[in-house]
Amino acid sequence: FSEFLTDNYQRQHDYLRISITERCNLRCLYCMPEEGVSLSPPAHLLTTPEIFYLSSLFVSQGVTKIRLTGGEPTVRRDILPLMRQIGSLRSKGLREIALTTNGLLLHRKLDAMVEAGLTGVNMSLDTLDPFQFQIMTRRKGFDAVMRSIDRILEMNKLGAGIKLKINCVVMRGMNEREIIPFVEMGREKDIEVRFIEYMPFGGNKWSKGKMLSYKEMLDMIRQKYPDIHRVQGHKNDTSKTFKVPGFVGRIGFITSMTEDFCGSCNRLRITGDGNLKVCLHGNAEVSLRDMLRESNDGNPIDDEAFEALKQVEMDRNQGRLAEGTTLGWGERERKLLDIIG
Ligand code: GTP
Ligand code: 5AD
Ligand code: SF4
Repeated sequence: FSEFLTDNYQRQHDYLRISITERCNLRCLYCMPEEGVSLSPPAHLLTTPEIFYLSSLFVSQGVTKIRLTGGEPTVRRDILPLMRQIGSLRSKGLREIALTTNGLLLHRKLDAMVEAGLTGVNMSLDTLDPFQFQIMTRRKGFDAVMRSIDRILEMNKLGAGIKLKINCVVMRGMNEREIIPFVEMGREKDIEVRFIEYMPFGGNKWSKGKMLSYKEMLDMIRQKYPDIHRVQGHKNDTSKTFKVPGFVGRIGFITSMTEDFCGSCNRLRITGDGNLKVCLHGNAEVSLRDMLRESNDGNPIDDEAFEALKQVEMDRNQGRLAEGTTLGWGERERKLLDIIG
């Protein structure tokens, strides 16, 4: 494993998240204002060959998992050819190709994506009620999301083995009464539903009162399912995993606000405009795009890129969000939706 991807805390960063678009076809209350966010000029965004080049570079150093994020990754028109190219890195050591998506457009492209090598989908879904969906996302589309979920489960029945997780951001006064129905989705379906503590982000009018802590959510579930118990998750999970005895699915909690998980963090990020970043909550960024575009003599940028990585590594481990802060993120970071990417 490359020394470049091992940090000062001996964490091995074998998981790369790439934001492939800043755009999104929903306007979730907790994430974006109605009018959307201002976007980078197209020329600043990474092209598909650039994304592929960087993916190969990181895989050559030991990255085994790539997650495509956004914005909403499926709105990128050439996501399929891109995924096929990334899929070709499986022969070079890449083991997982995952997608974080709102599922609206997924069902149309899913089969081709799985063929290209897609191994996991994290689907954002905060409600099981079509009307509430429209309130929380400011758009219609609930049926399309459910179609995507059903298609994944159907493909899994045929042996596709797609790891499916649902990301559910819980906001008080909005969807906390849906925690139990979401838990019950796992009675017969092999899904991991992860409840996410609502975080301050991009001027989303966060307040402590609107956040349900993981302990509070767990207590609510315990009232109906007292036997729910913690189970071993995977080494680098962002979530704590639980199981209700007899249910096929699992429950997770992403405790970004109340307990950090920096100690086991193995993530690297590339933003839509080509900046390398290690920590979601950090500010240090280095432009891999500029490096690539300046090396037009065709020289590989490996050494330069990995030196840059060492530089931004220092920024990692900013730790959990202090209560009540809005992080002081810059406009650009907000725009890049780095909570996702
Ligand atoms: P897998 O572990 O690969 O399933 O994905 P993930 O949980 O890392 O990613 P996903 O895109 O599904 O994001 C789910 C939630 O985790 C989001 O709410 C993110 O804000 C949060 N998250 C993802 N990565 C990080 C991280 O590195 N640090 C922190 N603090 N939160 C993260
Ligand atoms: N708080 C918590 N989670 C959020 N996400 C987006 N914005 C927030 C927020 N303010 C979640 C999305 C998506 C995941 C990648 O991040 O719902 O599922
Ligand atoms: Fe990793 Fe930073 Fe998130 Fe901690 S806060 S888990 S170091 S990205």
